Amino acid sequence: MAATAKNKKLRVAVLASGGGSNLQCLLDRFPPGDDSPAPAQVVLVVSDRPGAGALERAARAGVHGEVVSPSEFAAAELFGARLLELFAQERIGLVVLAGYLKLVPPNVVARYSNRMINIHPALLPSFGGKGMYGSRVHEAVLRFGAKLSGPTVHFVNEHYDRGPVIAQRAVPVYFEDSAGQLAARVLEQEHELLPEVVDLIATGRVEVSGERVRIIRD
Ligand code: GAR
Repeated sequence: MAATAKNKKLRVAVLASGGGSNLQCLLDRFPPGDDSPAPAQVVLVVSDRPGAGALERAARAGVHGEVVSPSEFAAAELFGARLLELFAQERIGLVVLAGYLKLVPPNVVARYSNRMINIHPALLPSFGGKGMYGSRVHEAVLRFGAKLSGPTVHFVNEHYDRGPVIAQRAVPVYFEDSAGQLAARVLEQEHELLPEVVDLIATGRVEVSGERVRIIRD
């Protein structure tokens, strides 16, 4: 069973390496504080890159931002321990990887089992894995000649882009597409899908059963 919230808002941490347009959609839909009726609130943003646009977006929204870079730590376990410390401080119930390019250490994956999700800009299990991020994903889709692509949101396990799939959206791939054009078409769907999934989790409508996920719709 994934994290649920009855009367309390689900407290969300977002991990992001880049510009953070997905983060922005989450901040807009799940702002910090108790004023909005949203079932979740983004209370922490962590980036591995000091200059990440995601951190600027966090600052503008008044959300706690932190830089935690794996290269600062002698071992993955210590990197994970720092992340877990931050998550404990902020009482995080759900971790969202939104354009996060580092592998999440096993101690964090274990602690946040079925409480950590990732968005990937292709239809997994195709076009995922180590090194598959940003335009590389869309270039691979075009090279292969796939006719459909689109975002996947899944629970995170210890492997890149693996773990139970929660939701996917399909978009057409056109012969004339550049990687940038395809990325833009997929990103538009990401911006709807990721907040939708966070809402489903925050309202207790996502159940994990082994490797499969059941969405409970009204
Ligand atoms: C998004 O397209 C996301 O799906 C992708 O990085 C982009 C981040 O954009 N993630 C991956 O490729 C992970 N494998 P954003 O910083 O504007 O949200």
